[in-house]
Amino acid sequence: MCGIVGAVANRDIVPILVDGLRRLEYRGYDSSGVAVIEASQAINRVRAVGKVAELESALRKGSAPTGGTGIAHTRWATHGRPSESNAHPHMCRQRVAVVCNGIIENHDQLRSEQISAGYEFSSETDTEVIVTEIHRHLEQGLELRPAVQRTVEALEGAFAIGVIATDQPDRLVGARRGSPLVIGLKDGEAFLASDMAALIAVTQRFIILEDGDIAEISCGNVSVYDDGRPVQRPIHISPLSADAVELGNYRHYMLKEIYEQGRAVADTLEGRLTTNRLLEAAFGPDSGPIFDATKFVQIIACGTSYYAGLVARIWFEAHGIPCDVEIASEFRYRAHVVPDDTLLVAISQSGETADTLAAVQEAKRLGYRYCAAICNVPESALVRGADLVLMTHAGPEIGVASTKAFTTQLTALLLLMIALGRRYGMSADTEAKIVAELRSLPVKIEQALRLDTEIAQIAEQFADKQHALFLGRGAHFPIALEGALKLKEISYIHAEAYPAGELKHGPLALVDANMPVVAVAPNNQLLEKLKSNIHEVRARGGKLIVFTEAAAGIDADSDLQVLPVAPVDDSISPIIYSIPLQLLAYHVAVIKGTDIDKPRNLAKSVTVE
Ligand code: M6R
Repeated sequence: MCGIVGAVANRDIVPILVDGLRRLEYRGYDSSGVAVIEASQAINRVRAVGKVAELESALRKGSAPTGGTGIAHTRWATHGRPSESNAHPHMCRQRVAVVCNGIIENHDQLRSEQISAGYEFSSETDTEVIVTEIHRHLEQGLELRPAVQRTVEALEGAFAIGVIATDQPDRLVGARRGSPLVIGLKDGEAFLASDMAALIAVTQRFIILEDGDIAEISCGNVSVYDDGRPVQRPIHISPLSADAVELGNYRHYMLKEIYEQGRAVADTLEGRLTTNRLLEAAFGPDSGPIFDATKFVQIIACGTSYYAGLVARIWFEAHGIPCDVEIASEFRYRAHVVPDDTLLVAISQSGETADTLAAVQEAKRLGYRYCAAICNVPESALVRGADLVLMTHAGPEIGVASTKAFTTQLTALLLLMIALGRRYGMSADTEAKIVAELRSLPVKIEQALRLDTEIAQIAEQFADKQHALFLGRGAHFPIALEGALKLKEISYIHAEAYPAGELKHGPLALVDANMPVVAVAPNNQLLEKLKSNIHEVRARGGKLIVFTEAAAGIDADSDLQVLPVAPVDDSISPIIYSIPLQLLAYHVAVIKGTDIDKPRNLAKSVTVE
């Protein structure tokens, strides 16, 4: 989604802005731009459609801007198509420039008022009303920060903005409501960004703005205001290093992140287990009484995180823990009967997904008392608003397609299952067995990764296909859903997943030799049922690719290829079986030559509704 970078320093900050945009590229965007106040005190703006490389080449042409105060942006179109005129920064009469992430819901009304006041518009965006409104307030004699404050008060919606104006050329003002914004600190310099990752090459010291905050930033000086009153916000030291977001020797971030899963899962377990028990303190000091009181679990999430929730429901209910799972964007817009003593569990890699955050707010309004967050970004809005937090320590996930975030979410959900399961009669022996399986995960993940070469060969068969079907049962149906999502997301092949038992209720009509059918067939109590479904596909001339264990006894032939997964216990099997499906999607996308880390139309973190 959109990205903001800003800087104030006694040096040319354009390279910092452009480097910041590059580091935000993974979030997905369609155009970018930069605006700088130059020594002449005029704003010089350059914008380009496409990748940051296009902006860099535009910067090399003509009179490239240089200056010590500036803002930059990567845009993901919401209002108005991707074009240079819709790209940010937006300017008003060469006096003010603004970058914005988010959506201004009352932009039509503001635009009408501004047109009546004599302003003209040069874009189709909602952001242009912000810059115009700030200009109106500057015209009335306000300084930049109060002008931004007055403007923000008039805006409806969720947004984060960065503003510069020729009135105060050494100043940068940032404001947030509903979209993330951080300030980077360095001696004699200060920065603004929608994501710490943008600034990690220049600083690791950050202030995380709270909703409603307005920050006034000059060289090495930062003041934060809440409702017009100065407030102190703590300084965080980011554990991110510039290296953590480097590609290294990998061809794509997605592949790097698939291969990091053993380490990521080990980090997620680190410090949370004894030899045979879960350390409940992992959930924070308040967790005990909250877990004691929990009689029902409501999970909300989007996309891949939702699929992690679907697996968790099956795990939880197997241990007697009542649980429901819902897509956040659906949850937030319907009436609910709130079961007593429900623990709301929000799962999100980014912790900034607008629908998930809004669903949490709606749940709180409805009377859900406690919210537990399973999240990968410690500074995110989700984590900061949650009562209990279990961080997944996956490290930064750059590829738009979620991989290590998913397997670490599943790992974290198993920890939550143990914590709650203890209250539902889970025995110490069962806990010890699950803990042993959790500990074995990094090794088993490495084993699963060894299928890489074989999967790369099988991927060839998908390159000319338009559709694919994924089948699974029980806790492996959500894994089939995730496998189908991965394939469609990065290879643009239409893929659907079905609980295998549903085949004969409709999708079997689609099966022919042109539609590969991928079956997730672990050696568990549903295997015989799944074998019957495999026969149904074979009987219709379908071509099967089956991920299974040798002991399952599924034999390969001309219509059925077997990808042998090492034996794995049922308790962790969904985590292991998700890995070959990630590799399959990856290799198909490599063959198809798509933009794997930044698939078309998608954004890493969906911070708008
Ligand atoms: O950051 P979140 O986990 O809240 O993101 C939710 C989805 O947008 C995300 O999982 C999306 O479906 C991924 N691109 C899937 O690979």
